[in-house]
Amino acid sequence: MERDPIFLPFQLKNFRLKNRLGVAPMTRMSSPGDSIPRQDVLEFLVRRARNGAALVYTEAIVTDYESAQGYPGQARLVTQSQIEAWRPVVKAIREAGAVSVMQMFHCGRVAWPEINPARRVIAPSPLAPRDLNPLTGKPYPVPDEMSRFDIEHVILGFVETARGAVAAGFDGVEIHAAHGYLISQFLSSYSNLRTDIFGGTVNNRFRLLHEIIQAVAPVIPDERLLTVRISDWGVVDMNVSLFGTQTEYQEVISLLSREPIDAVSVSTYDYQNKAFNTDKNMAQITRGATSLPIFICGKIYDRSTTEDALQDADVALSAKSMLLNPKWVEEVRQGKVLPLYTSEEANIAYTSLTQIPHSHNWQGTLVLADCYFTRHGNNLQDLQKKF
Ligand SMILES: Cc1cc2nc3c(=O)[nH]c(=O)nc-3n(C[C@H](O)[C@H](O)[C@H](O)COP(=O)(O)O)c2cc1C
Repeated sequence: MERDPIFLPFQLKNFRLKNRLGVAPMTRMSSPGDSIPRQDVLEFLVRRARNGAALVYTEAIVTDYESAQGYPGQARLVTQSQIEAWRPVVKAIREAGAVSVMQMFHCGRVAWPEINPARRVIAPSPLAPRDLNPLTGKPYPVPDEMSRFDIEHVILGFVETARGAVAAGFDGVEIHAAHGYLISQFLSSYSNLRTDIFGGTVNNRFRLLHEIIQAVAPVIPDERLLTVRISDWGVVDMNVSLFGTQTEYQEVISLLSREPIDAVSVSTYDYQNKAFNTDKNMAQITRGATSLPIFICGKIYDRSTTEDALQDADVALSAKSMLLNPKWVEEVRQGKVLPLYTSEEANIAYTSLTQIPHSHNWQGTLVLADCYFTRHGNNLQDLQKKF
């Protein structure tokens, strides 16, 4: 019988996860033409499943063709060809004994209009982030304040994308409500200044997420999973605490607990960090407000950090270690000394952008990828083999 706490199975609704390790969602920006990830990016997910990950999240899939896309080359999952492309991936992940979950997102104000087919930027309130767009070096545009029509359109985008995931055979769907993207912008009074039923009180700011969950849940067959990802930090204006206080964060988690979801995935910058001026980390604070399964992520990179993180959570997700070390799961089992990778090292995720024509004004991102090549003297084919 398995005695290693990291490799104990975990019962997640109808799914028995074979261990407590999962691949965190990672945007790869490899789908510039047809919104279908490049083959090696799809195969990466299968390889990680074969190498022992129990749970495999996709990159954030964009939910609509108007305003949802936040980065160049993101994937979608609504057309027949997009669904067909994912089907064998999902099947192979299942055959490897892992559970697949499609994450879907709307970027809200963290957007560059050039990359959205309808060139529209929308958010709860007409407020741009303070930070510049790190990929273009330019300010983010001031978004349009969302109308009720916009809200309904956004909800339909989540529903259609969830339908796509169900058709492709995914075991589950995740609503991305973290990292300062659209849903997170509604949840936080930092970006939501609305005075209607979608702003003001915590209940009102939670309303968009509530409506999305209520609309998405019915299209997901009973036996499959619905998870929600949440964080107190955003990818822009990173130092801002989006919930501000433990009380407010726990109120949101309590509201989430009443929804028909199967797990809450807590994303942190570092799982060990004490949150909201307390002596507790985010997983502990989340546990204080829910009995839902908790997934934790953020600087979990070796046996000791994994074991420690699992004291307060049920499953540990890793992004950078899963990306950069194909043998990560096995090496965690062995207790090998492993590196804590930097975000710069993870830029390997975006190598495909070297293949995007320069006419798209995406040089910022191209530079990220080019830097990696220059520094490591590699070429794309070698890198694809390596990872
Ligand atoms: C290349 C890359 C792409 C990412 N894309 C997403 C994404 O699409 N959705 C998401 O929720 N988080 C995304 N993240 C955040 C990770 O899921 C994770 O929360 C973060 O990297 C911290 O975990 P780590 O310390 O194990 O890397 C991304 C991270 C990286 C490195």
